[in-house]
Amino acid sequence: MAVKPAIYGASERPPRGDYSRARDDYTCAQNQAYTAADHDTYRRLYARQSALLPGLACGAFVDALPRLGASDAIPRFEDINARLREATGWQLVAVPGLIPEVPFFTLLAKRKFPVTDWIRTPAEFDYIVEPDIFHDLFGHVPLLFDPSYADHVQAYGQGALKAHALEHGSTPVAGAVEMLSRLYWYTIEFGLLRENGEVRAYGAGILSSPGELVHSVQASAPRRLPLRSTADLLACMASTYKIDSYQQQYFVIDSFEALLALTQPDFTPHYQTLANPASGAARTA
Ligand code: PHE
Ligand code: CO
Repeated sequence: MAVKPAIYGASERPPRGDYSRARDDYTCAQNQAYTAADHDTYRRLYARQSALLPGLACGAFVDALPRLGASDAIPRFEDINARLREATGWQLVAVPGLIPEVPFFTLLAKRKFPVTDWIRTPAEFDYIVEPDIFHDLFGHVPLLFDPSYADHVQAYGQGALKAHALEHGSTPVAGAVEMLSRLYWYTIEFGLLRENGEVRAYGAGILSSPGELVHSVQASAPRRLPLRSTADLLACMASTYKIDSYQQQYFVIDSFEALLALTQPDFTPHYQTLANPASGAARTA
């Protein structure tokens, strides 16, 4: 198999999934040879995290979580898929771990969500750098049952393919994919939502982390910036981030519908503005 794993950030660690199992599109059959210890790790992670949700996670997430099915063992993707297909037309596909950008965007554009099929070791109970099945399933999948959120993730995949094409086109716009990846980071991974006047989490990186769930919603240290206007969107796409510590900055949306509307327009001019800040400054001067 010609596929190569993707590595998140700069890392010396070899990628841990077995990529020889992957097809050309990086998907594989869910390896269901989980041990009793694996199921127990999932059960304990699920129990700890679901107990923390009230008052911290957004309502749509709390409402949809039971649709993952049993919480005491690792679920089978095909069981979730039967319910998910009916709700929003999304499907989960198993992957050996992180996959490169273009195959990842291609799956999202087709409403296929890649889920890592292995689980962390007990020693990694509190922290794991790369996504495992608990992060991918518990963090990302419940909101795929929400129609507006589900549409947003597909639009992101389509938009990212477009950004990639722009970056590699005849008049290349440097950095377009990276700019859009920041939006993914500050929404799908670490997004906050204002609900009945209170801040709640909807990002998967927050919802699957016991420490960051409390930090993001309640700590006084991080900045919580609005993601409401086009200027906010540009600020978000210009913000670099760290992958190995709690975020120092979060972006807060008003609703999934508002996020969908904000990201609907063509981003080509946004990428051009951000790639040429001098011309942007000249225009406003
Ligand atoms: N509308 C954006 C574009 O045309 C793509 C996009 C959609 C980006 C949804 C993020 C989320 O490039
Ligand atoms: Co994730």
